[in-house]
Amino acid sequence: MRWIDTLEAAAADKLPEPVHRYFRQGAAGGVSAGEAVESWSAYRFRPRVLNDVSAVSAATTVLGTPVDGPVLVAPSTMHRMADPDGEVAMANGVAAAHSIVGISSNAGTTFADVGATGAPWWLQIYIVRNRSITERMLDAAVAGGSRAVVLTVDTPVVGRKEDTGETVWDLVRPGQLLANLPDGEWTDDDLAKADDLGPDAIGWLAERTGLPVVVKGVLRGDDAKRCADAGAAGVIVSNHGGRQLDGSVATAQALPEVAEALAGTRTEVYVDGGIRRGEHILAALSLGARAVFVGRPALWALTVGGAAGVTRLLADLGAEFEHCLRLVGCPRPDDLTPDLVTTRSMDPL
Ligand code: FNR
Repeated sequence: MRWIDTLEAAAADKLPEPVHRYFRQGAAGGVSAGEAVESWSAYRFRPRVLNDVSAVSAATTVLGTPVDGPVLVAPSTMHRMADPDGEVAMANGVAAAHSIVGISSNAGTTFADVGATGAPWWLQIYIVRNRSITERMLDAAVAGGSRAVVLTVDTPVVGRKEDTGETVWDLVRPGQLLANLPDGEWTDDDLAKADDLGPDAIGWLAERTGLPVVVKGVLRGDDAKRCADAGAAGVIVSNHGGRQLDGSVATAQALPEVAEALAGTRTEVYVDGGIRRGEHILAALSLGARAVFVGRPALWALTVGGAAGVTRLLADLGAEFEHCLRLVGCPRPDDLTPDLVTTRSMDPL
């Protein structure tokens, strides 16, 4: 059995049950969360043969930052419930793997402390109703060395979870969340997500921070084009791990349309949701993604193995992907093309 496949169960022994449930859960009926992994496994490959694969490397760059492999860590909350050092442990694990970590607006660690790890990191921002709170958070992230701003756009309201009994919100302690907000100076209404955003939010963020803006939560080609036209440096094809609109299309299915819409532009495409194997990464990059993000696997790895666990997870997935590059006959990620992939249905190409 692969180590990555043992993590969710091993984490259940270490986490309070409501926290494990919170990490695992999807929104509403759990349709999108439930089908994410399986959707990647529906692709079939058309490998090239008689190509020299004696020197293969998964290394690439993401928005100009060199990484050992195209596997990055998605932003998520509650790291301090997985490890006492929270985001610092996650960032240290990512730095050792020469990858990039997304840090949630709802982090339990200050951006200055994240920056001090030396890990390349991207701030994930929710723009909230009280823009001055968002502005303070952006300024703190810039001061902490964030290399990009990830604007999550699939959350005008938080997806409905059907938790009953004790939930993670009963267990959360001050300092495990919202470490980057001014103490006690805000109300729940200030912090409600802005639900009146348009594409001009992208330019506003770029101007305020001087950083490249990546839009997270895009599932359609026309929306991807609107983001690119508004100046986005990247888009993440994501349904938030199935935690927002349940029944949203699987990211494995949405990726080709988005990649086609952005072909020939400078906007990079990334994807997350259900990426668990080298073969999934191979499909994603062949279909036009520059890199993938993993969410839950990183939380499980942090819980089970701390920073070293995160490093091992990224190294294992990178090694699996490198193995796949050899088998598909392509020595570099940039050699991957959409014709390497077809669907299970055996339709003609
Ligand atoms: C998330 N995700 C998320 N996304 C975001 O933009 N801001 C956030 O604060 C969070 N928080 C969060 C918490 C937890 C517990 C999970 C599991 C996920 C979504 C995350 O960035 C990513 O889109 C998905 O997790 C990707 O799917 P997989 O890899 O978990 O299948």
